[in-house]
Amino acid sequence: MRASLVSAAAAVLAFSGLASAANLTEWKDRSIYQVMIDRYALTDGSTDHECAAHLTCGGTWAGLLNKLDYIEDLSFTAIQISPIVKNIEEHTAVGDPYHGYWSLDNYALNDKFGTEEDFRKLVAELHKRDIFLMVDVVVNNMAQAFDNVIPPKVDYSKFNPFNDKKYFHPYCNVTDWENTTDYQNCWLYPYGVALADLDTAQPAVANELNSWVKGLVSNYSIDGLRIDAAKHVNDEFLPAFAEAAGVFSIGEVLTGEINDLCRYQTLNLLQGMPNYLEYYPLTKSFRYEGTFEDLDDVRNKAKTGCNDVFALGPFVENHDMPRFASASDDLALAMNAMAYVLLADGIPTVYQGQEQHFKGNGTPFNREPLWQSGYDKTHPLYVLTSTLNKLRRHAQKLSPEYTEWPSETVVVNMNHYCLRKGPQGSQIVSCITNKSSQGDNFKIVVGGFQANDPVIEVLGCTTTTADAAGSFTSYQFDGEPRVYVHADMLKDTEFCPTTTVAQGKIGAASAKGAATGLLMAVTLGWAALFLA
Ligand SMILES: *[C@@H]1O[C@H](CO)[C@@H](O)[C@H](O)[C@H]1NC(C)=O
Ligand SMILES: *[C@@H]1O[C@H](CO)[C@@H](O)[C@H](O)[C@H]1NC(C)=O
Ligand SMILES: *[C@@H]1O[C@H](CO)[C@@H](O)[C@H](O)[C@H]1NC(C)=O
Ligand SMILES: *[C@@H]1O[C@H](CO)[C@@H](O)[C@H](O)[C@H]1NC(C)=O
Ligand SMILES: *[C@@H]1O[C@H](CO)[C@@H](O)[C@H](O)[C@H]1NC(C)=O
Repeated sequence: MRASLVSAAAAVLAFSGLASAANLTEWKDRSIYQVMIDRYALTDGSTDHECAAHLTCGGTWAGLLNKLDYIEDLSFTAIQISPIVKNIEEHTAVGDPYHGYWSLDNYALNDKFGTEEDFRKLVAELHKRDIFLMVDVVVNNMAQAFDNVIPPKVDYSKFNPFNDKKYFHPYCNVTDWENTTDYQNCWLYPYGVALADLDTAQPAVANELNSWVKGLVSNYSIDGLRIDAAKHVNDEFLPAFAEAAGVFSIGEVLTGEINDLCRYQTLNLLQGMPNYLEYYPLTKSFRYEGTFEDLDDVRNKAKTGCNDVFALGPFVENHDMPRFASASDDLALAMNAMAYVLLADGIPTVYQGQEQHFKGNGTPFNREPLWQSGYDKTHPLYVLTSTLNKLRRHAQKLSPEYTEWPSETVVVNMNHYCLRKGPQGSQIVSCITNKSSQGDNFKIVVGGFQANDPVIEVLGCTTTTADAAGSFTSYQFDGEPRVYVHADMLKDTEFCPTTTVAQGKIGAASAKGAATGLLMAVTLGWAALFLA
């Protein structure tokens, strides 16, 4: 761990000369809400507009501006939005460019999302509310509709800049996803849209993109970037691009392999990435496909394999993956997944609609307009997200060490996973379970506190007291997550104005005919530490 902290510091130093705007350290305290502009809010705020999944739905920057309270009340401190530059105009065989990824002109804003004034107003209001703005940028390719005749006939003169064939790789279709040359130099998904692949290894191309992003960040006061398809450009391009931007960047590297993901940090190519390492075992452990042991294993390997797990972004949903609830619409499972994302190490990232339990499957069905929810602030997932974001901020406020305090595994077994994060007094001990709302009642013994500590469970507002070993009994029912803190941590806060003493749910258990099992969970680390 020490070695990885040292190299993390080295990675920070490597970027520090440039960070005048929001840097990695500041981003680590944040939590990100991912907004797809076309699907977040209409300018007039109406909620009855229906639209087809592959066509433009009409959401705008002004719509988002008018509905910022929804995000602020969820207690997110950053948003990540769709790319902002002008896209192609055509309706294609694979739909409209509603998502913003089909760049035509890097120097014009996307007028489907509004005017320059609308965008500037949005940025000003975000900053007034101390919400960071992360903008998605596309560097791998420009786009043009085509008629599916291979090779695509591209009119390069339509692009701004890059208005000549010489800036692009010659056409070939990516076919070998294991061959770096192939997936970096060939063209992605040639159907309906030609994603003309920029040759970012050419100095002329790299210099132009660097100069462009520097202008973009400073002209619009952008606080951070998501670099789309970072895995599909040459390695050397990335650090210079991020340095030119001068802000924290998270690069999309879609792989669950430790070495393939972590190399972007160990080689100083990128500061942060969405945490696809945890994504797969996390979702699988709720789908009868994997175990919390697998998740725990990946988490531990990433601590040494990557330089800085606190710069990764844990998530269970984004605009590319099937929604969590597409596999099971059990609400308790979704609550556990949400609790994990918000309380694990790293920069939590939640995709719009996740807090409304949207169920869309693969793209584009995972991009439902948020207005379909009526922006319901009483949804249990909305309430949970708001509470846990607030609790994380509270822990950060009490202890500057909280954010980069490595989570320790307190319990891991078939159905339960408990993590402890933060120094004594401001630690959060969170327990997730995959038992679902149909699961039976359980008690488990959980460590993570000191002898006789008064402990409060924040979601149910129940109290208990740690024993001589710092452990306590966690009563679990309805398959819901549990989140424990030291009682002193909640003094003079809005959390749990009233509490009751923690106990099992005997009535429900007998009603279901299920036996109340007692599972003596494996208490790792902490029990041993306090007995020693
Ligand atoms: C990041 O920015 C903050 C606030 O401006 C500053 O205090 C800190 O030193 C910066 N950290 C790095 C590593 O540049
Ligand atoms: C491109 O390759 C993919 C496999 O990666 C294949 O499914 C697709 O049909 C190919 N498209 C063209 C136009 O060759
Ligand atoms: C990798 O892909 C490139 C570009 O398509 C190709 O020229 C090369 O032969 C491939 N290498 C291997 C080992 O398949
Ligand atoms: C940023 O503003 C400058 C000055 O108006 C302009 O020349 C440049 O093209 C702008 N860059 C972008 C990416 O909009
Ligand atoms: C929970 O995980 C256990 C252990 O892998 C597995 O047997 C069970 O099917 C999982 N339950 C759900 C709902 O995924």
